[in-house]
Amino acid sequence: TGPLKLKKTVVLVGMMGAGKTAVGRALAAKLHVPFLDSDAEIESAAAMSIAEIFERDGEPFFRDRETQVIDRLLEKERGILSTGGGAFLTERNRKLVSEKGVSVWLKADLGLLWNRVKHKDTRPLLRTANPYETLREIYEARVPIYEQADLAVEARPAYSIDDMAQKVLEA
Ligand code: S3P
Repeated sequence: TGPLKLKKTVVLVGMMGAGKTAVGRALAAKLHVPFLDSDAEIESAAAMSIAEIFERDGEPFFRDRETQVIDRLLEKERGILSTGGGAFLTERNRKLVSEKGVSVWLKADLGLLWNRVKHKDTRPLLRTANPYETLREIYEARVPIYEQADLAVEARPAYSIDDMAQKVLEA
């Protein structure tokens, strides 16, 4: 057998802390296909962290960049694409993803997400007086949108990154 050729890019979507980056990287390694990461791409192009971009240029600027980067990465090559948690929210981005990719929602409950994000200071949206409450509000608003993904894979505390990569593959 030769190298695997994906028919479509696998686009991982879901909340902050769902494991999109870690699982995407593991899955790409497993399949020997390129790993693409929209947040990392935005950061390296801007030579700034996501938090700095939000602070300096604002969220709308970041969202514009995010759409451009997703568009470009989907054009460039097929692979596993991990997106930021807000990437699937606009109609425009969902359309880009559905044209060139297959979307997979990494579905985790609020408790798991909170456990994973609470110690980190890298997420500008959670820099509020009550980050748990903010995460809960974001979660509730977004679940109905993530439900529109082509596939869903449930993340559980007991599942390792490799378990999750395997589950995405099976899905
Ligand atoms: C965001 C999630 C982040 C990053 C930005 C906004 C969001 O990515 O894109 O801070 O709107 O949920 P992760 O989901 O990788 O944390």
